[in-house]
Amino acid sequence: MKILVVGGGGREHALVWKLCQSQRVEKIYCAPGNAGIDELAEPVDLEVTDISAIVAFAEERAVDLTLPGPELPLTLGLVDELRARGLRGFGPTRAAAQLEGSKAFAKDLMRRFKVPTGFFSSFSEAEDAVRYVHEVGAPIVVKADGLAAGKGVLICQTVTEAEEAIDKIMRWRLFGDAGGTIVIEEFLAGEELSFMALSDGETVLPLASSQDHKRAGDGDTGPNTGGMGAYSPAPVCTAELHQRIIQEIMIPMVRGLAERKIVYTGVLYAGIMVTADGPKVLEFNVRFGDPECQALLMRFNGDLAELMDAAVRGGLAGRNVSWDSRAAACVVLAAEGYPGNYERGKAIHGLEGLRGWRDGMVFHAGTLRRDGTVVTNGGRVLGVTALGADVAAAVAEAYEAVARIEWDGMHYRRDIGRRALERET
Ligand code: AMP
Ligand code: GLY
Repeated sequence: MKILVVGGGGREHALVWKLCQSQRVEKIYCAPGNAGIDELAEPVDLEVTDISAIVAFAEERAVDLTLPGPELPLTLGLVDELRARGLRGFGPTRAAAQLEGSKAFAKDLMRRFKVPTGFFSSFSEAEDAVRYVHEVGAPIVVKADGLAAGKGVLICQTVTEAEEAIDKIMRWRLFGDAGGTIVIEEFLAGEELSFMALSDGETVLPLASSQDHKRAGDGDTGPNTGGMGAYSPAPVCTAELHQRIIQEIMIPMVRGLAERKIVYTGVLYAGIMVTADGPKVLEFNVRFGDPECQALLMRFNGDLAELMDAAVRGGLAGRNVSWDSRAAACVVLAAEGYPGNYERGKAIHGLEGLRGWRDGMVFHAGTLRRDGTVVTNGGRVLGVTALGADVAAAVAEAYEAVARIEWDGMHYRRDIGRRALERET
């Protein structure tokens, strides 16, 4: 099989790394890749949003399966365009990717399919939104409808804060066109959980549970980020909760979409709040989480290429995924200033010494090789990922490796796995 991975982050490095271990894979391309990926796959100098060029490349090289990592190529219709040329893409079509591309669309479907989620209403006029906020009170959550790189969510403790949030998103367009419509929804309290499953449009094959750390600072302080660390499994996800999530959330979504003639293929990711009333959906993503994917794939036993190919061909029924019984943890190392402005081009030290690390892997995200040296080239730079007997051991192993890496301005959270550790002890 020839595979084209689209993206150049930590998630894509983990995907390429796992795909390399597949017996069936003869060649992997990655567009655009990064310094870590380029050691395993042939880099292709294309942006992830350049859909026509990606499709042309896949056609010219007779790629058997194209695997988009991030959401943008999916919402731009990469899988539709591939199919139109008789090529295979792992992931939902443009219509199905609206589940992530529009929060109002996702909430409407959840209501229709009776999937548990907070109460909500969507608005295209600021005055109506303000009226609603006065009606329902605070705390309340105000979200830009469209894609805003995880930043279009404002949690408001008071009605005044909510009014300001509506202004920011709708009047000042802080998140650009993503804020043409807003969703105002119930504030849900509890512990968050990332739940991903593979779908072939009919069968839902759950993956291991995981948990992410979205805020920049220790103790969940500071601004939201793409994710500063992750671990798998998530101890909050008991066997009973796992079953409820499959039965009440994942299956109804895939079946409901199928009834509306939308065949959902690829990864369905539910961001879930485990509330006192059970699991409720915060959001859906139409791809692997980053950095959850890094922790998950560390534990994945099996042939990933074969499984993805089966999902695309509608052949997931009767399959299982087996997981390393150990836990995995990923600590993200970020550039100074991230998630705000940051500089690029800082030389990274210590990577060579971690080659051949037995119980872990340093996944590259924003990195670039320049004159033989690996330098920073993004906000999230590396995802140091380790296995251990339990989350505590995996976290300890990951931090030992972190201590060997260094660049000017490197920062990271020191409390990855905190919630799991509280449960394990
Ligand atoms: P989202 O991109 O919708 O997942 O939102 C980003 C983050 O905001 C989530 O990971 C949660 O931490 C928080 N969040 C979003 N929606 C809610 C909600 N309804 N109640 C409480 N927290 C929320
Ligand atoms: N880590 C959260 C996400 O990928 O959306």
